[in-house]
Amino acid sequence: MNNVEKIIEGMTPLQKLSEMTQLNGAFVSASDAEITGLAADFGLNRENIASIGTVLNFTDAKEMKRIQDTHLAESPNKLPLLFMMDVIHGYRTIYPIPLGLGASFDTELVKKCSALAAREATADGVQVTFTPMVDLVRDARWGRCMESTGEDTYLNCLMARAQIEGFSKGNPEPGRNLATCVKHYAAYGAAEAGRDYNTVDMSEHTLREYYLPAYRAAVDAGVDMVMTSFNLLNGVPAAVNKWTINDILRKEWGFDGVVITDYNSFRETVAHGYSKDTEHCARLAFETETDIEMMSPCFIKHGKKLLDTGVIDEERLNRSVRRILDLKEKVGMLDNPYGAADEALAAELFLSDEHRAVCRDAAVRSAVLLKNDGVLPLSEDIGKVAVIGPHAKSGMIGFWSCRGRADEAVSVYDGISAVLGEDRLVYAKGANGEVREKSDAVMIKEAADAASAADAAILCLGETAKMSGEGNSRVDISLTDAEVELIRAVSAVNKNTVVVLFNGRALALGNVIDDAPVFMTMWQPGTEGGSAAADLIFGRRDFTARLPVSFPYHSAQCPLYYNRMSTGRPKPKDDKHYMYKSNYIDYPNGPLFAFGHGLCYTEFEFSEPVLSSSVMHTGGTIEASVRIKNVGKREGSALPQLYIRDVVACPVRPVRELRGFSRVTLKPGEETTVSFEITEDMLAFHRPDGSFGADEGEFHVYISRDGESGSYAEFELVK
Ligand code: GLC
Repeated sequence: MNNVEKIIEGMTPLQKLSEMTQLNGAFVSASDAEITGLAADFGLNRENIASIGTVLNFTDAKEMKRIQDTHLAESPNKLPLLFMMDVIHGYRTIYPIPLGLGASFDTELVKKCSALAAREATADGVQVTFTPMVDLVRDARWGRCMESTGEDTYLNCLMARAQIEGFSKGNPEPGRNLATCVKHYAAYGAAEAGRDYNTVDMSEHTLREYYLPAYRAAVDAGVDMVMTSFNLLNGVPAAVNKWTINDILRKEWGFDGVVITDYNSFRETVAHGYSKDTEHCARLAFETETDIEMMSPCFIKHGKKLLDTGVIDEERLNRSVRRILDLKEKVGMLDNPYGAADEALAAELFLSDEHRAVCRDAAVRSAVLLKNDGVLPLSEDIGKVAVIGPHAKSGMIGFWSCRGRADEAVSVYDGISAVLGEDRLVYAKGANGEVREKSDAVMIKEAADAASAADAAILCLGETAKMSGEGNSRVDISLTDAEVELIRAVSAVNKNTVVVLFNGRALALGNVIDDAPVFMTMWQPGTEGGSAAADLIFGRRDFTARLPVSFPYHSAQCPLYYNRMSTGRPKPKDDKHYMYKSNYIDYPNGPLFAFGHGLCYTEFEFSEPVLSSSVMHTGGTIEASVRIKNVGKREGSALPQLYIRDVVACPVRPVRELRGFSRVTLKPGEETTVSFEITEDMLAFHRPDGSFGADEGEFHVYISRDGESGSYAEFELVK
């Protein structure tokens, strides 16, 4: 019998139920006096706390060891706790938010950032990260866009794999990698109206075709855990959804790792109106093969009674405890209860030059140049620069930043000061950066005065960390009135006005895009954001990133995504309004800036796509290629994107879908041919009979600079 089986044999049912419960660090190390309120409501006492299996959220290696020591002193089976945390895009050194990393279209970069984050986190006592978040997001009103890698299933699958690779295998040193947890299963990003925790309802086809593949990609990449989501899915809370958990995840995909609920989401089935009380919920919960209940008491409070009355059997508990102990064994916690915690190493790694350098490079390679009417790059001899805005002197590190601190991050003001010297800068706040802020005439005038006395004006606007992220959905995703007025006032007095946006989602810029010559987004760029912004503004580095989400003209266009359906009344590609076509009277259908859009400091010409054949026989391949020429004055990198459309299918397929991309760097005047191999599996989709495959017929192939532009070549799949 192996070690885990021996441990299980020695555990009582109550100890197994505690092992299947996850609490905040503070609960586990609570003294008797502190076991009141929520802890008492949980039915916690010294005995069941002594057998808790895993912990989320704690402060550092020192506290982790203290919690572990307290626990082991009381644990009847001397079973060490496992420590988990949301190491989403950095730990103490903070990298760009995942939406920014998605914009890099660079899986190697994402692996690198994940690996360095794992190094810092394991040194500080973390063994498991609740990452990658792979929820498909098509509605920018949802706050957790920032945590996703965008609106495209294909890109999200690549990024899911890259994060799992980086976090769990990116460091050669033993103990320096993290176990991973894909979330939030399933379709949490499809919350109605973009309002967090809201209802999700969709066809099985849509779920399987667009929303499930990235979770599947994570499972196939060896993710250790799956976290269920808060939302209803077709009337059943995802946390107790037997179809998605038992049938799809466990049986169809063969996942036998740990399934954990999101925070208190078992108990929330009562608020959903799905369970009568926590006892009813416990019964429903045990019917799903979920192993860890995060921060709610259903297993602990009701498990023993359900066992004693034969509603569940002990083998149900054993299966979950086995998965948890297998994970503890895998990460080495059964041999060393302190894991790879090493305070001295943590201090050495935090904000190290190496980590900061990767941070800065990642922030450069995540930033997207949306519009540039010839103002950027600025010369370093420019003279005086006004740095203006509520975020000009702020470190912008995003919503999930673990032990990262904004005051340790480089602001745009600091970044530009490092290039020009502070004596050439002038600063004005211009606005306060609050949601729905009205403009303040005094602040606007101060900013306009500063700008009129300078040779260039850099405006730092957009969202603070608290304006996106969990629970931070917005109806209006445009800039505030104060920011719009500020842009207009500054731009009116300085022709070299550059708008630097910080945002955790796509923003609706239709009402302001004509009011300044340059708009760029840094997303929330992390610890070295300001240095990266300066590198780009002065042309020390060039832009290479592209949008992983469509930017609308107006918030009310949401949900908005490039891989839409044609409809039976598609409107012509111009901006006119057509009666009895699928369009609006007052706004275009499409985005202001397309999925895949991004400028740089040179220009490229794309030829029409050419195919090696107009027929693909089943099992065969076709080569698609395009000529790309650098017709600008600087070396630069293009990101040709391969899109395919299945013209006639049941169910209908999108007007195009991303199926590949590559990066080419060309000198001025240089040109090259970029080719993609098209295989039959790129054409496959979920058919109504449940099968997955490609059907014969006509296909269109684009190789373009974004998801809206370009022309196509066509071929026929013949079976
Ligand atoms: C939160 C989030 C989830 C996170 C968990 C633990 O509510 O939904 O993404 O991993 O709780 O912090």
